[in-house]
Amino acid sequence: MIASKNREKLAVLTAYDYSTAVICDRAGTDIVLVGDSASMVVLGHASTVHIGMHEMLVFCGAVSRGAKRAMIVGDMPFGSYQPGKSVAIDNAVQLVKAGCDAVKLEGGEEIADTIKALVDSGIPVMGHIGLKPQTSSLWEGYKVQGRTAESAMKLMQDAKALQDAGAFSIVLEMVASEVAGEVTKSIGIPTIGIGSGTQCDGQVLVLHDMLGIYEDIKPKFVKRYAELASVISEAVSRYSSDVKSGKFPEESNIFHMDAEQESRFRELLGKEK
Ligand code: KIV
Repeated sequence: MIASKNREKLAVLTAYDYSTAVICDRAGTDIVLVGDSASMVVLGHASTVHIGMHEMLVFCGAVSRGAKRAMIVGDMPFGSYQPGKSVAIDNAVQLVKAGCDAVKLEGGEEIADTIKALVDSGIPVMGHIGLKPQTSSLWEGYKVQGRTAESAMKLMQDAKALQDAGAFSIVLEMVASEVAGEVTKSIGIPTIGIGSGTQCDGQVLVLHDMLGIYEDIKPKFVKRYAELASVISEAVSRYSSDVKSGKFPEESNIFHMDAEQESRFRELLGKEK
């Protein structure tokens, strides 16, 4: 992955289930991220803090059965690494056993020791700085990061600390594009941007956002590549009206007995009366 720095950009998408993982994998996604965004777009919570290890393990297992070529990164949910290094290692090991190739956790210098402990245990780690949805939802809300010179310098320090701790890549979320560009130039590992401009080494989007399935929030950085909510809604209402009008199932959807068995069956039914 480090070798992809300064080469072709990395295309990263989230997936949480087998079927979409197969589609992303076959369509050439470099990294499939089993993001804790599942908390919102799959489970319907208001933020990412509500998802736990048991749910992430189910999603990671499903994605790993679908994505055979792409790298699979599993998000460490809120509470799964904050208690300390040994809890973080136990939980990261579970994500790897569920099929992840690497884990991702949110934070800068303050979690560098935890990242180092994970890497020393043999687990590849992707960092995540800038907007950190797990804690931002509890504190200042979702705001662009690095808009002041001081906060930009802090992001530079955080990125270096994660690189020194052994992270193989770093997500930069909602970072002012000038700062994302400088961070990208200053480190030797790939940066993956989400709402952080064009100069990152790769881009990530939440699948449900880019497909137009999740309509509760539409951040400015999302580009919709499809409007599947309306496609799905139209199909579901056609199905309901076909069921009610008797148009579905059609002859091609029905199984039959052979004629001999049917007449014997009717004979037996007749004897029972
Ligand atoms: O959970 C997630 O989907 C993420 C991406 C937005 C980077 O962390």
